[in-house]
Amino acid sequence: MFARFRRKRINPILREMLQETHLRVDDMIYPLFARRGTGIKKEIVSMPGVYQMSIDEIVKECVELKKLGLYSVILFGIPDIKDSIGSDALCEHGIIADTIRAVKNAHPDMFVVTDLCFCEYTDHGHCGVLDPVLHTVNNDITLDNLGLQAVIHARSGADMIAPSGMMDGMITAIRGALDAAGFDNLPIMSYSSKFASAYYGPFRDVAESAPSFGDRRSYQMNPANRREAIMESLEDEKEGADILMVKPALAYLDIIRDIKERSDLPLACYNVSGEYAMLKAAAKAGVIDYDRVMMETLLAFKRAGADIIITYHAKEAAEILNNRAKI
Ligand code: PBG
Ligand code: ZN
Repeated sequence: MFARFRRKRINPILREMLQETHLRVDDMIYPLFARRGTGIKKEIVSMPGVYQMSIDEIVKECVELKKLGLYSVILFGIPDIKDSIGSDALCEHGIIADTIRAVKNAHPDMFVVTDLCFCEYTDHGHCGVLDPVLHTVNNDITLDNLGLQAVIHARSGADMIAPSGMMDGMITAIRGALDAAGFDNLPIMSYSSKFASAYYGPFRDVAESAPSFGDRRSYQMNPANRREAIMESLEDEKEGADILMVKPALAYLDIIRDIKERSDLPLACYNVSGEYAMLKAAAKAGVIDYDRVMMETLLAFKRAGADIIITYHAKEAAEILNNRAKI
């Protein structure tokens, strides 16, 4: 009588059949970082396996991704020139617009998501236009610019827009701008509950987007706030977001579950740079079985309620899933 649970775990075939949550290659979006030049593939010290790449290298990388069954990427741009408003992001020939066109030209079958924000493009590193009085980002001027940036991504061929700046009203503004330009079929995946997290550290090295003064706490959320995170995501749903997101993922599994239970929209999570870097560092130190910890972590996001996982582990995880290795 004490075998009630264990008798279902003894036979490996039955055990497999009873697995409640599954990770699939199709669930993952792989981040790519584009910069100018040719033949450039520069590894990031804190993120082994993650590179800044020139556009030609990104096009080549997509060939490798497709071989693994990975058909969706999220693009970030590192412009040559940054200025106070992030003009490169508002230009038809900016780094991200050029990258989208190159990728879609060479790989029409790839699904290209674009991160919509200004922190990689501004000389001060904040996510929008600065307000001289507030000394932080001016919400409403930034909304106008986000609309312009979204239309540039759309015209360049993006398949989905992912605004990450945590401005109030950003989904209304971006949806309005896209619809007015005739892109009413383009989905928006909102970084709807995004926290002011120290886990973004390595990303800011790769995207060269650390703020030159202050921090992002006047627009990103306080990590202590659960109710506010739910309100933020529900607000974006009301404004017309097609997919919601929780970011970071690993330290915010409760928030993933909370939002999954309160919204019927699909939910993404962003397994961020610091989470990836921690596993890499622990593996290098010889203290964990990297593959198993990685797969357990990714599965936890699905169990918590995520439908989509944006992750730097996508290639490594796809390799394991494709080989159907049981680990
Ligand atoms: C841009 C943006 C950031 C990340 C994704 N989009 C950085 C930030 O908000 O500082 C972080 C991703 C990561 O850490 O992997 N706003
Ligand atoms: Zn930003």
